[in-house]
Amino acid sequence: MNSTQRRILVTSALPYANGPLHLGHILEQVQTDIWVRFQRSRGHECHYVCADDAHGTAIMLSAERQGITAEEQIGAIHKDHLSASKAFAISFDNFYSTHSDETRKWSETIYSRLQAAGAISEREITQAYDPEKGLFLADRFIKGTCPKCKTPDQYGDNCESCGATYSPTELIDPVSALSGATPVERESRHFFFKLPMFTEMLQEWIASGTLQDAVANKLREWTDGELQEWDISRDAPYFGFRIPGETDKYFYVWLDAPVGYMGSFQNYCERTGVAFDDYWQQGGGTELYHFVGKDIINFHGLFWPAMLHAAELRTPTGVFVHGFLTVDGTKMSKSRGTFINANHYLEHLDAEYLRYYFAAKLSAGVDDIDLNLEDFVQRVNSDVVGKVVNIASRCAGFLRKNFDNRMSDHCSEPELLATFAEAGDGIAKAYEDREFSKAIRLIMELADRANQYIDQHKPWVMAKEPDQAADVQLVCSTGINCFRHLMIYLQPVLPLMAERAANYLRCSLEWSQVGDLLVDHELATFEPLMQRVDPKLVTKMVESNREDVPVEKANTKSTAPKPKDKHGSSDAEHLDIRDFQKVDLRIARIESAAAVAGADKLLALQLDLGDMGKRQVFSGIKAAYDPATLVGRLTVVVANLAPRKMRFGVSEGMVLAAGEGDSEIYLLSPDSGATPGMRIT
Ligand code: MSP
Ligand code: ZN
Repeated sequence: MNSTQRRILVTSALPYANGPLHLGHILEQVQTDIWVRFQRSRGHECHYVCADDAHGTAIMLSAERQGITAEEQIGAIHKDHLSASKAFAISFDNFYSTHSDETRKWSETIYSRLQAAGAISEREITQAYDPEKGLFLADRFIKGTCPKCKTPDQYGDNCESCGATYSPTELIDPVSALSGATPVERESRHFFFKLPMFTEMLQEWIASGTLQDAVANKLREWTDGELQEWDISRDAPYFGFRIPGETDKYFYVWLDAPVGYMGSFQNYCERTGVAFDDYWQQGGGTELYHFVGKDIINFHGLFWPAMLHAAELRTPTGVFVHGFLTVDGTKMSKSRGTFINANHYLEHLDAEYLRYYFAAKLSAGVDDIDLNLEDFVQRVNSDVVGKVVNIASRCAGFLRKNFDNRMSDHCSEPELLATFAEAGDGIAKAYEDREFSKAIRLIMELADRANQYIDQHKPWVMAKEPDQAADVQLVCSTGINCFRHLMIYLQPVLPLMAERAANYLRCSLEWSQVGDLLVDHELATFEPLMQRVDPKLVTKMVESNREDVPVEKANTKSTAPKPKDKHGSSDAEHLDIRDFQKVDLRIARIESAAAVAGADKLLALQLDLGDMGKRQVFSGIKAAYDPATLVGRLTVVVANLAPRKMRFGVSEGMVLAAGEGDSEIYLLSPDSGATPGMRIT
């Protein structure tokens, strides 16, 4: 094994230290961890490091809002991130922080090498500045009225209502989202990384064949066009590393973020004696892979390799890009309860359910991955519990009761066991290529065969005939050997269940043992390996998550304080048009309507708002409408009303009706042609 042993360093992207991990982060870490565990189980030296990405304006502001220092905030988040990842059995060798001496040192070293290579330029730029806060404002910190559709309260780079993109200077009545002040333009000196110098180098790197096609194509769009210099400095106040030789300038968070991979690894090497330089100097004979989401391709596919190359360090062997996690077919949503934090999931469900489900869905592509909650329950129960665990539990009972947990001294069905061993290469290739869904498919085909074998021989029938005792032992022992192979193959995905299986089998589960058989071997007493997923717990998780969201915040996109409204001109009698436009009125289709137990006046309505998704609304119209007559009709709903927690659930909007009193109620309807989700202006 040693002559072919690979030396590999693997990373997951560094999560920002300004919020808890959610299931999207876990998707990435699970994907990485499966690959890492697979490499280790094949006997390779595979190191896996990560860290929190601790710098930047967002973190500085969030600490400020909480009245704590940035250091306190990143310390608390670090603990929280680490414990969530651990609970998902993510096998980091080190989980560090970019706010560390190692990362500072390497950021400075790389920067000075870039300077020496003539790859840094310096010039004045003009930017929006918040005179009240004393801060330069990134686009997302500027809000105003969309120049196109005139919707108020839109972010500085695009309109959520009509989808237009623009620059913040085009906004009507722009304000700072931080203070409500009107931004002014101000000049300041910035440093730039001269990316265009590396166009050719990047073109070669992209063509080297290790990137996914879709990623290489995307990167090529950039390198075939004109690359821009990259602004790598930010003015004080900023939470980050000060640029050497400057008093009030800091490295932009994305300059030192990937350097955090090196910092974390160095910290680990100093603890363990692993040779750092072999992994970062050129020609060290090692491999380096970054697992990242599709939103950060430019940083990992352009800036980072160019920086490394310019600093005469090694470039990555590969960047493995994955798509985004959706839940039940749509973007994770706080109001629907599907924006699920890692810790919240863990309060209700077993981590390995999700590891298995993600594995069953992941391929080497960049397509989004959907967590369909119904499919999730069904898949885990039918594959892991119904197929794999079932083999062991069926056989274990007879071996314990009739044979004192002792396996037979040989196995029957050599062809069956040979099939199990021969399948190993294909499964290994699928893992290596990150085609995890294919690996799972191959493994489940084997599980089906093992179950068929047991069904054919019916040990439960033979067990009733005293003269067939030896056959019962033989069939069950063969079944257990099949199960052991399945667990060797599933160990990268289900490491905790594999540990329980290894305790039962009283043997290790190494890939090198594929083909070996357990004979005349004593098993431990069988303990349940995995419980079925209870669908009620999934519902409970979603429901309680919906309630978890501070209700008044559920629909706002950022936690930044709302700007003071300086531009409305409402008075007692008149409403400013811009204030009126803040009410987001939409057409909705009533999908279902039902009385609410315990409420005299309410109907629970399920509304379809087209692209805006589905909503539940409680409406006091019961006296006037028979619920059955409402199903299918269109009406008008206030879509951006703060969700209201009621005794019966959360109401996510309000339908509009005319009338007086309890029974004279007339729901509004649009003219024909209107469709769900249309905005009323
Ligand atoms: N801090 C940067 C990464 C720096 S790496 C040198 C960052 N942080 S993040 O917290 O926003 O995202 C961390 C990783 O999680 C990224 O790879 C990102 O693509 C991934 N994901 C964030 N949301 C996700 C989903 N909904 N689905 C899948 N992955 C997602 O970007
Ligand atoms: Zn607009």
